Amino acid sequence: MAVNLLLGLQWGDEGKGKIVDVLTKNYDIIARFQGGPNAGHTLEFDGIKHVLHTIPSGIFHDKAVNLVGNGVVIDPVIFKKELDNLAKFNIDYKSKLLISRKAHLILPTHRILDAASEASKGKAKIGSTLKGIGPTYMDKTGRNGIRVGDLELSDWKERYRNLANKHEAMIDFYDAKIEYDLQELEQDFFEAVETLKSLTFIDSEEYLHKAQKEGKKILAEGAQGSLLDIDFGTYPFVTSSNTTAAGACTGLGVAPNKIKEVFGIFKAYTTRVGSGPFPTELFDEDGETMGRVGNEFGATTGRPRRCGWLDLVALKYAVHVNGVTQLMMMKGDVLSGFNTLKVCTAYKYKGETIDHLPYNIEPENVTPIYTEMKGWSEDLTKMSDKSEFPKELNEYIEFLEKELETPITIVSVGPDRTQTIHR
Ligand code: IMP
Repeated sequence: MAVNLLLGLQWGDEGKGKIVDVLTKNYDIIARFQGGPNAGHTLEFDGIKHVLHTIPSGIFHDKAVNLVGNGVVIDPVIFKKELDNLAKFNIDYKSKLLISRKAHLILPTHRILDAASEASKGKAKIGSTLKGIGPTYMDKTGRNGIRVGDLELSDWKERYRNLANKHEAMIDFYDAKIEYDLQELEQDFFEAVETLKSLTFIDSEEYLHKAQKEGKKILAEGAQGSLLDIDFGTYPFVTSSNTTAAGACTGLGVAPNKIKEVFGIFKAYTTRVGSGPFPTELFDEDGETMGRVGNEFGATTGRPRRCGWLDLVALKYAVHVNGVTQLMMMKGDVLSGFNTLKVCTAYKYKGETIDHLPYNIEPENVTPIYTEMKGWSEDLTKMSDKSEFPKELNEYIEFLEKELETPITIVSVGPDRTQTIHR
């Protein structure tokens, strides 16, 4: 049985959590493959808004098993808060949440190191969520990290101490004058580790292998977006993991030839939080309207998101890198009321017109070239079938499908589970 894969095609916040939640009924296992609590997946149903950071977005369904894969980095303190929130809604998470022994742990000092590193960068800062993601993946690739499976060993606290001591020396090196009370942070950390230890740790690659043999249906869930990928994103303004399709193979131990459908999620316009180039960014009333109507504030940090028109050059790049087989367009409803819609179909780059993403997309190198389309005024949020779509929305969708050479199979017209239209 094949594994399907769902990921974001822009700079994150595309609405992956909502779609995973909608699709979960078709799957036996939802497996998160990278990132950590820098993510904020918002799900809405029955009038309640839930935000998940590390736990897969299938957790609200009775049937599916939710797996935190080896490619994920876990902050036990944030994880415990997520579990406590689930408990408030009487979600029996213990029976359906599994953790890979090979996932790495975010230590309190990783978070402080993140803050110290950002502070030392001054104007060149990444705009990190400061959840310790970069330093944790650095320790992973530097072969110093502490993994979930280590918590089952008797000497893990000793290893923790050695690593934390090293981090303290590194924090001093940054000289960023960050105040922190490590003892207090460690108290929370060790308490949260005990909660984590009450969950089931597994050799997840083996579990997934067996599940595939038994014909179980698996959905791999990505976090962040393709343009934040450590290799293919707008480096250095990226996150520290592979957010693209290949990340699902290394982040779960799933072989490339087992992946079937790749669902690419994108917003009908573009947003970005944090620093870094964004060619179609708007600084006018249109951008302000998108932010206001789309409620564009980070689910993890609350920061306002930068907004702009849809960038098809960047989207095409993401479709290619990921091998997307089906597209899902989010927040179409936010574009209602614009007389004219713009879509970037090419860049002016060093005096030439190009339609691919060049090495450097800093504003001084790239000017977007737009195709204009007629907007629609109808409110989409109450629609429940594609037959109700205004003509201009159909034209917008068909234009994107043609440019991206990929079908758009779902159009989301609001944050609630029910506001999801299949085409
Ligand atoms: P970090 O991964 O927290 O270090 O952040 C690196 C960059 O990725 C920053 O620009 C963040 O704003 C951005 N980022 C990280 N996680 C997310 C996410 O889930 N959604 C959108 N942007 C994110």
